[in-house]
Order: sequence, then structure tokens, then C-alpha cells
Amino acid sequence: MNDLTYTAHNVRFPDGTYTMAKDLPLLSDRPQIKSILNILKDVAHLIPEQSTLVDLGCLEGGYAVEFARAGYRTTGIEVRANNFACCEQVRAKAGLNHLKFVMDDVRNTPKYGPFDVTFCAGLLYHLDQPIEFIKMLAKQTNKVLVLHTHFSNFYEPMYDGFQSKTLEKLKRRLKLKSQKRNFHLSKIETHEGVQGRWYGEFAPEASENQQEGLRWASWKNHRSFWVTKEDLMVSLKSAGFDYVFESFDHLNLAEHSLEANSWGQFIAIKKLT
Ligand SMILES: C[S@@+](CC[C@H](N)C(=O)[O-])C[C@H]1O[C@@H](n2cnc3c(N)ncnc32)[C@H](O)[C@@H]1O
Repeated sequence: MNDLTYTAHNVRFPDGTYTMAKDLPLLSDRPQIKSILNILKDVAHLIPEQSTLVDLGCLEGGYAVEFARAGYRTTGIEVRANNFACCEQVRAKAGLNHLKFVMDDVRNTPKYGPFDVTFCAGLLYHLDQPIEFIKMLAKQTNKVLVLHTHFSNFYEPMYDGFQSKTLEKLKRRLKLKSQKRNFHLSKIETHEGVQGRWYGEFAPEASENQQEGLRWASWKNHRSFWVTKEDLMVSLKSAGFDYVFESFDHLNLAEHSLEANSWGQFIAIKKLT
């Protein structure tokens, strides 16, 4: 029996019911989804709404349903059975015939592609071979990749043990708290030819059942590699995208901690002809 509990995507259906609750913020009101739809429509204006779009690691299908509502022929790929069951419920209740979900590992995306638009949110930093994945995405994306991801920083006292005790004491005395969230990343390392830091996902011996319960985590790889922002952007370019941007238009005052959390929205575009 699947667990149909929604952990993050609150969607309203035509019959007036919700995946989560009426009084919780709707995914369709998040600044991120509004920003992406505007970018696809206004900036990359050669992408008609009937274009194909893939949502990788789509969790409960909330973003996918918004893309389909905007007219994109949308495929969501999600590996966890409980998340996938939520996606299927969303699909049935949304009543959109150009929305579908497949239960699979995103590393198998070529089985379903290519797609005009790739939406990859909250996923790249859950992979242990992100550069190989970016190369695959570049082949599978005809026009635009929208990437929401954590990255790591080359200089990061929190993970490099450079934090001076005196400075820490002074900060405590002045009651200054570090704005940066501690993800317990490794020291800087080179992996797949780029620099980044390792992030621990779960114990190496975790069973598939235990992994199934970690609804937002990686799948099969017990650690993930967070590429530095610079190497991430260069890798997108060398994988075959002609233009690579970081976009900030979805940020508002309440969310300006995103930068402190080493998180960004990146747009990679192939020349539109
Ligand atoms: C942090 S959540 C992000 C969910 C969603 N994209 C969002 O932004 O709200 C990561 C999602 O990716 C899925 N995932 C992780 N690794 C995956 C893989 N190798 N193949 C398919 N899905 C994966 C997880 O099950 C989870 O749904």
C-alpha cells in the first residue's frame, strides 16, 4: 500500500480539493514557478507552449502539473514509489491528458527524451556524478534547461577548518549568528574533472526500504557531489549550451537567505533558430 502523504507540493484540483490543505501556500503561487514560466514564454520566446518538457525528480508532481496547465506536454520522472503514487493521484485529479509520469531513475532519461525543455530542481546535488548527468542532459535537451540546485563554494571556512576561534568567540559575544546553513560538506576535492564538496545522504548500508522513506534524498548513491558554482556554469557551457545565466528574478526579501544556503536558479539555453 502506497503512502499518499504529500510533503511539499500543495496543488488545488478543479473539484476544489487540495493535495495538502486549503490554508497552506500553493505551489502555483511560488515565485519560482512564476519566474520559470515567464522565462520560457518571454525570454526564450521561441518555445511554444505545446513544447515537450521533462521534470526530473518530480517528487509529488506539483511543478509538472503547473507546466502542463501552462500547455507544455509534460513528463515527470520520479524513482520513489510513494512519491510516484502521489504523482499518479495528481495526474488523475488534474484531468490533463498531456501530463504523464514515469517511475524510473533520472539517469535513464534518454529512454524518454529528448525534450524541448528540461526542468531539474532539487536533484543535481543528489547525484554522485553530476557532470556526467549534465552531459546527458545537454544531449536530451533541445532548447532550455532550468536548473535549481545547491552548489558549493571554493572558499568555505565552515568546511575547511579555517574558522578562527577568536573570530567565533567575538561573534558569540556580539550574538552574531552565521547566516550559512551547515550541510556538513567535505573539504574541496576534484571529482569528474571539477571542484566541489561531498555531501552525505544516508548510511552506505541503508536498504532500499529505508531509502524509500527518505522522500527528498538521493537514490542508490549514499553521497552526492556539490560542484562549485563556477565549475557548474562552465560545465553547462562545455556540455553544449550556448548561453548560461544565473537568474535572480524569483527572489524576494523573505528568500534572500537562498544565497547563504548556496542555492541558485540557472538557465542554460541552446541557440534558438
Ligand atoms: C529534494 S527533492 C526535489 C523535488 C522537486 N523537484 C522539487 O523541486 O520540489 C528530490 C527528488 O528527486 C528524487 N530523486 C532523487 N534521486 C533520483 C533519481 N536518481 N531518479 C529519480 N528521482 C530521484 C527524489 O525522490 C525526490 O523526489
